[in-house]
Amino acid sequence: MSIISKDISKAIALLSAEELVAIPTETVYGLAGNIYSEKAIKAIFETKQRPFFNPLIVHIPSVDYLNNIVASIPEKAKLLADAFWPGPITLVLKKKSIIPDLITAGKDTVAVRVPNHPKTLGLLNQLDFPVAAPSANPFNRISPTKPEHVEEYFKNQIKMVLDGGPSKKGIESTIIGFENDEPIIYRLGSTSIEAIEAVVGKIEIKNKKEVSPQAPGMLERHYAPKTETVLTDNLQKIIKEYRGKRIGLLLYNDILNDDAIDFKIVLTQDQNLEEAASKLYDALHELDKQDLDIIIAERLPDYGLGKSINDRLLRATK
Ligand code: TXA
Ligand code: MG
Repeated sequence: MSIISKDISKAIALLSAEELVAIPTETVYGLAGNIYSEKAIKAIFETKQRPFFNPLIVHIPSVDYLNNIVASIPEKAKLLADAFWPGPITLVLKKKSIIPDLITAGKDTVAVRVPNHPKTLGLLNQLDFPVAAPSANPFNRISPTKPEHVEEYFKNQIKMVLDGGPSKKGIESTIIGFENDEPIIYRLGSTSIEAIEAVVGKIEIKNKKEVSPQAPGMLERHYAPKTETVLTDNLQKIIKEYRGKRIGLLLYNDILNDDAIDFKIVLTQDQNLEEAASKLYDALHELDKQDLDIIIAERLPDYGLGKSINDRLLRATK
């Protein structure tokens, strides 16, 4: 029997009983548990096979709720919360002691956001605790943007996926930390740098692999299909190299017709980066099912969400 269900009251009952429920958000599906339940939080790490040093994002129902869990809010954090919540920005702030160390991997900061999905907002408003919810995929695998993706991963491990349809944004939230009260981007994501800079001015990015990982979402290989994947500006050259093998293409523009190609997915017909982001992970899930020797991904333009998509594709390669 399917674990996918639209029943919010069932989700509330399970979460209140310290069980896990996969929940829809506008970015990707999350694997949710009560932040105050040691049993639930341990189950999140176990189910995902995620190392305990990698902290979890806390999901809260409103901007106002923030005061309950963080010790202080820099001015620019408040500006960002007011501008983008509910929405795909995660703020890393000094935590209050009420937040268990297990959630934050012993750090004195907590990552927090208000997700923009009507079902999950409804759920959060009815619970008397926030939920921790990392993306609902096993460690190092592709994040889920549809209830079916979660079911495929975890049908034997969790009791329910709350069905909220496909995730509209399709890549994870942008993570912003603070150093001396100044914002710094730790992970590129569904909110573009340009949109963030319009609110707080020029912002530094620290998501390079050379820098010690502030957010393990920066770990070099992450978000990865099982099939070998390459990212390129020069499709023809790479296709030539792999001629004779089973090739799958992930294209930004549909300009390529070549008999050597066994399977291809085009992310957008009219250069719409939002559309490309929303389709990215489903495309990778599909390509990964085709028994290919190689997935060749075309690099996107390096601005707006194109930057975030390129970041994920780079991490999908070896
Ligand atoms: O869009 C999203 O952010 C999704 C949805 C479900 O909300 N969640 C998500 O969670 O992507 P996860 O766990 O897959 O990625 C969260 C990232 C991890 O790389 C983690 O290391 C980082 O956030 N993180 C969590 N707490 C942190 C902290 N206190 N300091 C620095 N990074 C932190
Ligand atoms: Mg993740």
